[in-house]
Amino acid sequence: MKTTGGSDEAKRRAGESAAALVEPGTTVGLGTGSTAAHAIRRLGERVAEGLDVVGVPTSFDSRQRAREAGIPLRTLDDVDRIDLAIDGADQVADFELVKGGGAAHAREKLVDTAAERFVVVVDPSKRADVLSHPVPVEVLPVAHGLVADAVRDEGGEPSLRRAERKDGPVVTDNGNLVLDCDFGDITAPATLARTLSGLPGVVEHGLFVGTADEIHVGTESGVRVHERE
Ligand code: 5RP
Repeated sequence: MKTTGGSDEAKRRAGESAAALVEPGTTVGLGTGSTAAHAIRRLGERVAEGLDVVGVPTSFDSRQRAREAGIPLRTLDDVDRIDLAIDGADQVADFELVKGGGAAHAREKLVDTAAERFVVVVDPSKRADVLSHPVPVEVLPVAHGLVADAVRDEGGEPSLRRAERKDGPVVTDNGNLVLDCDFGDITAPATLARTLSGLPGVVEHGLFVGTADEIHVGTESGVRVHERE
């Protein structure tokens, strides 16, 4: 797993706080990353205690974790609805997010936006007044040069995400590449989101605008919950 800032204790509190929201008989979107992993682990414990739920994973990694935790799984195609999705984020400003640090944002966006209620779990290091984290953009391999040029035209600085312990780029669960695109301060996220979505060759980008319902911020001593009005 990638390394991110923030303490594991704060991540654990956030993840467990979200896992406590899961009701019997519901379908839960299972996010990706070290904070969502705590929610998956705790949900697995609740399943072992008798909770009846079904999980829809957002990545190979979250599927593996959920299987190990004993959570019954379905694909997006198999379920009529997702009641609650729990997922992490790389940066949160108000209720807007940058995601995709684990290169899972395409499936995360499918599951998180399909959910009736989307709960974001983070530690305090993820909070910001204005989004400025580089935006991960998943691209068709054949299009990465074209998309990089288009991102530069939009004022961004793209960087092909390199793999660790493998020569060459990160390849997503969908067989695509990731450009991390630095736009500096993102003062109009909805506009940038529309622009990126409109570029040929872009599969999905990591700006999540208008999707989060609640932010659970784990701290060293508790959890702060922010609810969208
Ligand atoms: C994966 C994601 C993750 O949710 C995001 O990178 C946060 O991860 P972590 O909880 O490990 O900091 O978007 O694509």
